[in-house]
Amino acid sequence: MDRPSITLDPRVVVRNYLEAGDERALADDVLDGLTRPFKELPPKHFYDAVGADLFDRICEQPEYYPTRTERAILEARAADIVELTGVTELVELGSGTAAKTRILLQAMADAGTLERYVPFDVTEGMVRDVAEQLTEEHPGLVVHGIVGDFERHLHHVPEPEGPRIVAFLGGTIGNFTPGSRRSYLRRLGRLLRPQDHLLLGTDLVKDPAVIEAAYDDAAGITAAFNRNVLTVVNRELDANFEPEAFEHVAFFDREREWIEMRLRASRKMTVHVGALGLDVDFAPREELRTEISAKFTPERLREDLAAAGLELAELLTDPEDRFALSLSRPQEAAGRE
Ligand code: SAH
Ligand code: TRP
Repeated sequence: MDRPSITLDPRVVVRNYLEAGDERALADDVLDGLTRPFKELPPKHFYDAVGADLFDRICEQPEYYPTRTERAILEARAADIVELTGVTELVELGSGTAAKTRILLQAMADAGTLERYVPFDVTEGMVRDVAEQLTEEHPGLVVHGIVGDFERHLHHVPEPEGPRIVAFLGGTIGNFTPGSRRSYLRRLGRLLRPQDHLLLGTDLVKDPAVIEAAYDDAAGITAAFNRNVLTVVNRELDANFEPEAFEHVAFFDREREWIEMRLRASRKMTVHVGALGLDVDFAPREELRTEISAKFTPERLREDLAAAGLELAELLTDPEDRFALSLSRPQEAAGRE
């Protein structure tokens, strides 16, 4: 932790739960991933400062429909969400720049219920910037920022006060493999009391060409974002990947209903990872998997939520059924009505 964890403004607290040990976590992930027969690198390491900036630019690309579609749904339905839930506090996992979240916070402010916002992200600078901007925009708002890994540090989310929404937007849940997705949803379910809701953003199954274009934009921003993970490994683990020697690949797996991002070695090469004392051989055209992004059908979504003890209260979609925002709550709470 290189900065004090508590700032001077009493309405803003930012706590950082990442420690030196997290480099270890990257090292373990990389060692495990690069020594498998089918190589892969874990996705949470995409978002260093450069990666976060590239992600912002992905969201502005004409091919990348999820962000603007989710925003449009929020713009149309935020007031309904606030009315239905009576929400006073919003916890947001993978909050990033909280660009879309502002719509929801504004609707809470308009309804006179806005009390607390809990942004949770692995990138400290983003949590701090968001905390500062939002307290400026909403005098009286309390911000409790959490810098950490939302898989490992979920228990640091503060005790709820009023009715709460736990928001997980942007389709980030799709970046989990199906098994860990279900167990993670179950853990999120356990954060909810009967009066609380989960607001989950999920991208929907559609024409593969539309999906593939969203993950391979013409300007090459997604390709740069994908290659950036190699730069992160070079810097953090003293490796010598040549990012330009890897080609960005994105393809929709129709059977599994997810898009897969890979990096394809343009030629035979050996990469040295200094911190691990590891040499990794790549055959020509060998591929390294970097990310999956699952796409949902409404049925699949309902099943996953039910398996996590959650019941759908509202399924909000856009007119073209590209993206879904679902509002769900613990099953017992639903049953009591
Ligand atoms: N919610 C925003 C950003 C989505 S990008 C949107 O909808 O546009 C995913 C965000 O999750 C990034 O800001 C990234 O830093 C964060 N993130 C990814 N893996 C994480 C993890 N394991 N723990 C905490 N944050 C994570
Ligand atoms: N959660 C985003 C998604 O699945 C993350 C993302 C968008 C992403 N584009 C990407 C991850 C490209 C890796 C590569 O849509």
